[in-house]
Amino acid sequence: MCGIVGVIGKDNTTDILLKGLEKLEYRGYDSAGIYVNNQDGKDFLVKEVGKISELEKAVTSDVQGLVGIGHTRWATHGKPTIENAHPHFSDDNRFYLVHNGVLTNFEELKNKYLSDVHFNSQTDTEVAVQLVDHFAKQGMDGETAFRKALSLIEGSYAFAMVDKEQPDRIFVAKNKSPLLIGLGDGFNVICSDAMAMLEETHEYVEIHDGEVVILKKNSVEISKLDGTKVQRGSYTVNLDASDISKGTYAHYMLKEIDEQPNVMRKISQNYIKNDGTLNVEKDLLDEMNKADRLYIVAAGTSYHAGLVGRNIFEKICDVPVDVELGSEFGYHMPKLSKHPFFIFLSQSGETADSRQVLVKVNELNLPSLTITNVANSTLSREATYTMELLAGPEIAVASTKAYTAQIAVEAVLAKALGEVKGLQSAKDFDVKEQLALAANGIQSIVDAKDKIKKLADEFLTGQRDAFYIGRGIDYALSLEAALKLKEISYIHAEGFAAGELKHGTIALIEKGTPVFAYVNDGVGASHTRGNIQEVEARGANVLVIASKKYAESGDQIIIPEIDELISPIISVVPAQLIAYYASLARGNDVDKPRNLAKSVTVE
Ligand code: F6R
Repeated sequence: MCGIVGVIGKDNTTDILLKGLEKLEYRGYDSAGIYVNNQDGKDFLVKEVGKISELEKAVTSDVQGLVGIGHTRWATHGKPTIENAHPHFSDDNRFYLVHNGVLTNFEELKNKYLSDVHFNSQTDTEVAVQLVDHFAKQGMDGETAFRKALSLIEGSYAFAMVDKEQPDRIFVAKNKSPLLIGLGDGFNVICSDAMAMLEETHEYVEIHDGEVVILKKNSVEISKLDGTKVQRGSYTVNLDASDISKGTYAHYMLKEIDEQPNVMRKISQNYIKNDGTLNVEKDLLDEMNKADRLYIVAAGTSYHAGLVGRNIFEKICDVPVDVELGSEFGYHMPKLSKHPFFIFLSQSGETADSRQVLVKVNELNLPSLTITNVANSTLSREATYTMELLAGPEIAVASTKAYTAQIAVEAVLAKALGEVKGLQSAKDFDVKEQLALAANGIQSIVDAKDKIKKLADEFLTGQRDAFYIGRGIDYALSLEAALKLKEISYIHAEGFAAGELKHGTIALIEKGTPVFAYVNDGVGASHTRGNIQEVEARGANVLVIASKKYAESGDQIIIPEIDELISPIISVVPAQLIAYYASLARGNDVDKPRNLAKSVTVE
């Protein structure tokens, strides 16, 4: 969601910006733009609505310079138009600025300081750049004006700004929205995430909330808003450009679905030692052992992985678990237990809804763990402990391998915690064997892609609505399966507790309505079979996805053997593939579905 890139000190600035923006495409956007300055009085601003390829077409060969900033915009304030695309500029064309985040007091600032200024856009961002200019016109230098504006601005932001009068530097600031500095030899870059600049450097420096950076080609000066200098070392990002390429795949989503068996093996190798003992931080387990309740906080697919996790932790560790949506929990925090422990699940580690809960948890001095796919992400840095998903970069907007990895890591953690508690349930749960079964089970499903494609065509061609139903663990899974289908195929899909349908929603079932029924949950299996009959009697076209143990003749997809607790790791895969093929059949942009962003950095 909104991406920022910037570079200073290279002579192929335009190229670096455009390539960087392409790498950030996965985050979701609806317009894009660059500002390039040749430090010799000449500068260029190019903006386009739509894909980066449109922007590339609009960039002529003379757009060259030694400093530049670029942006992909995901519309919040104002429609996706050229005027609303970033970079925004002050009315005297002195300052150019890109922004990721949402300014909450922009109307107030506009009324108070900028009532006589002409605005070109409807965005909150333009207020920031006009405000800097307003203070510059009062005689402040660029940096002082920038700091003054920052001291008044409320909300979330990552800013990068170029002052035409000082084109030897980029002004950078951050609050709540992600931004990194990348270090080069005789040049420096900025980016919303390291993937954008891996071709330039693997060495990065974090910027923390409330900090300002003056970036020049040979120096990085970090300070707090009040001017106090900050010293911070760099870290190396161990990713290859090849990790983020599609290879021979038509879409990242299919590649990422196919990678899941390997992700299971990687998690197993990393967290389970050769002697079978678990590689989980002792302090983390001791802290969790003191908790009388675990609170899992997440959004979207990660929330669904949390629902699966609840079952795993409650059964293996005998501890009560609440699973909460960050967007709700942060604002309506219920009465907490006496000794809560918070687990944040987040693929990106940047989700603003979850982060605002973590900020409150930290204010309350409560212990927390972030389970994330992105080391050094905001949620990972700010939680007391971190565990990595090790799934490799997930580029497709629809999350697949991060969901299965989250369940796998939850299973490892539950086993480790249960062992610390000395519970038989933990001893009986052979996580190493289960992850091996998961890897093989996923493989057998992805090997049956052609069959699943046929089923997707048969059940979903021409359909507007679909239902996923199941009980217990299959209900949690149905929510994720339905989300996958709706977000990329745009078919209206609902995940339902199988027993709930008859309490109202069954009214929507008519001749030919596709219903995907999950039967992996031992306790619920026979009842779900009853619910299948109810919808069939009303004309539904039912596709059953059942585990080997509970399968009956006529069931279309059979899930290989695995412990029920983590069965969604395998049984979600047919749903991922069904969604993929339904999206393809409709001619949708599978990897970048409409209106969506990969990393949701606004609340
Ligand atoms: C759906 C999807 C989203 C994310 C959600 C949370 O396929 O990817 O629902 O799961 O936006 O994102 P993270 O996990 O990065 O916190």
